[in-house]
Amino acid sequence: MSESKRESWGSKIGLILAMAGNAIGLGNFWRFPYVAAKGGGGAFMLPYFIALIFIGIPLMFVEWNLGKTGGRYGHGTLGPMVYLEARTKLKPRFALGWGAAAGGLAFAVVILVNSYYNQIIGWTLGYSWLSLTGGYADVGKSTVDVFLDYIGNPVNMVFWIAALAALGFAVRRGIQKGIEAWARVMMPLIYVFGIALIIRTLTLGTPVRPDWSPLKGLEFIWTPDWKNLNFGSALSAAGQIFFTLSLGMGIIANYASYLKPDDDIVLSSFTTISLNEFAEVILGGTIAIPIAFAFLGPDGIGASVGLSFISLPNVFRTMVGGSFFGAFWFLLLFFAGFTSAIAMYNYLVALLEEDMGVNRSTGALIVFGLYVLVGLPVGIEPTLIRGSTAYLDAVDFWVGNVFLIVLGLIEIIVVGWVVGKKGLDQINRGSYWKLPGWYYRWFVQISAPLLILVFLVGYVLYLYQGGSILGNSLKNIASGSPWGLAGQFVVFLVLILGIIQTSRSIRKTYGSEIAANAIQIVKE
Ligand code: ALA
Repeated sequence: MSESKRESWGSKIGLILAMAGNAIGLGNFWRFPYVAAKGGGGAFMLPYFIALIFIGIPLMFVEWNLGKTGGRYGHGTLGPMVYLEARTKLKPRFALGWGAAAGGLAFAVVILVNSYYNQIIGWTLGYSWLSLTGGYADVGKSTVDVFLDYIGNPVNMVFWIAALAALGFAVRRGIQKGIEAWARVMMPLIYVFGIALIIRTLTLGTPVRPDWSPLKGLEFIWTPDWKNLNFGSALSAAGQIFFTLSLGMGIIANYASYLKPDDDIVLSSFTTISLNEFAEVILGGTIAIPIAFAFLGPDGIGASVGLSFISLPNVFRTMVGGSFFGAFWFLLLFFAGFTSAIAMYNYLVALLEEDMGVNRSTGALIVFGLYVLVGLPVGIEPTLIRGSTAYLDAVDFWVGNVFLIVLGLIEIIVVGWVVGKKGLDQINRGSYWKLPGWYYRWFVQISAPLLILVFLVGYVLYLYQGGSILGNSLKNIASGSPWGLAGQFVVFLVLILGIIQTSRSIRKTYGSEIAANAIQIVKE
C-alpha cells in the first residue's frame, strides 16, 4: 500500500482514546484483580511497579517509535518495522532475521491471544444478559455451576459470534470511522461504569460480617505482607505489565503506524500508560477485590480466574441493585475487552491489506473466519468435558506469557542497541516532551533489556524446576491432555507460519536490497 493512501488518526483525543482502549482490556479488570490477589496482594505491587517503571514505560516508547517509523514506509505490521530499524546498523540479511522473528511472534500473538480473548469477551456479553434477566439470581444454585453450565452450553457461543461480528464491522470501517469512533464511545463508558461501581463498592458497609468491609479488601491490596513475596509472584507481576500495556503483541506499534511523521510520541505514550494504570490499579483494584472481600471474606478473593465470573455473581445476586451493578460490571469488561480485541483484529487486517493487497472489507471478513476457526477449540472443549479449559490454558501459557516477553526483548534490543542513540532522536522527533539522553541510556538501553532477560531466564528456570505461575506449571501444561497437547501444537504451528509469512512479506518489498545486502530503499 502506498504511503499516500495510508490512513491516519483523525484527532489527538481520538488517538489517545484508541491507544488507551488498546491497552485497557480484560487484563485490567478481569486479570489484574486475581493475579494481584494470588500474587500476595500488597507484596505483589512492589514488583508490579518495578516492572512498570523499568520495563513497561521504556518499552512503550520503543513500540510507538517502531510503529511511527514503520508507518512512514507504509507498514502496519511488526516484521517490516523491526527489519527497517535493524538494518540501520546491520546488513539487510541479518536484519531480515530479526524482522522475521519479531513478525512471526506478533502474528502468533494476535491470532492466538484473540482465540481465547474473544471467547471471554463473549462470556462478558452473555453475563451482562444474565445479570439483567436474573440468569444467576437463583441462590439455590451455586455460581460455579452457573458458570460451568454457561461455558458448557454451545448455544451461548452466539455471544462470542455476535462480539466477533461487531469487531469485524468496526474494523471494516477503518481507523477513523471504525476504531477511533468506537473508542470515543466505549472508553468514557468504561470510566463511568467503573466509577459507579466504585461508589457502590465503597458504600456497601459490612453486609455479612463486621470484620469484612470493602476497606479491608483495599487494605489487602495496599498493605504489603512481605512473606507473600516470592519469585513466582514477581514473575506474574512482570507478565501482567506486558499483558495490560499490550506490550510484546505488535498492536501498539500497529496503532502508532497511523501517526503522522511529526506526531508526538513521548507525552502520548505516557498518557496511554497513565490512563491504563488508573483503570487497572484504581478502578480494577477498587472494584472486584473489595466487593468480593465484603461479601465472601478473605477466601472469596483467592478465586483465581473465577473471581469475575463466579465470585462476583455470587455477590451481585444478593446485593441491593445487584442486577444493574452486575450488568455494569460485565458491560465494563465487554467494552474494555472489545477495544483491545479490535487492535488485534486490525493488525491482521493491516497484514492482509499490505501483504496481499486485499481490501479492508474483504480483510475484515477473512479475519472473522480465521477467528471463528481458531476460537472454536476454546469454545468447544468445555462443552464436551465439563469445566475443562486445557486448550485455553496451554495457549495462554505460551503465547500470553512467553511470546510477549521474547518479542519485547527483541524490540528493545533492536531499537536500544542496534539503532542505538539514533533511536532517541526518532522518539524525540515531533515530541512535545523530549526524553533526556540519560533516560534513554539507563532505562531504554540498560534496565529494560536487562530486566526482561533476567525475567525470561528466571521464568524458564523457575518453570523447569517445577514452579507454577497462576496455577500453571510445565507439568500440568504437558500433562498429556489431548486438548492441552493440541493447544501447544497449534501454538508452534502458527508461530512457524508467522515466521514464514513475515519473511515473505519483508522480501516482497525489500527483496532487491536483501539480495544485494545493501540498503537501497530510504524515505526521509
Ligand atoms: N492490554 C490488553 C488487556 O489488558 C490486551 O487486556
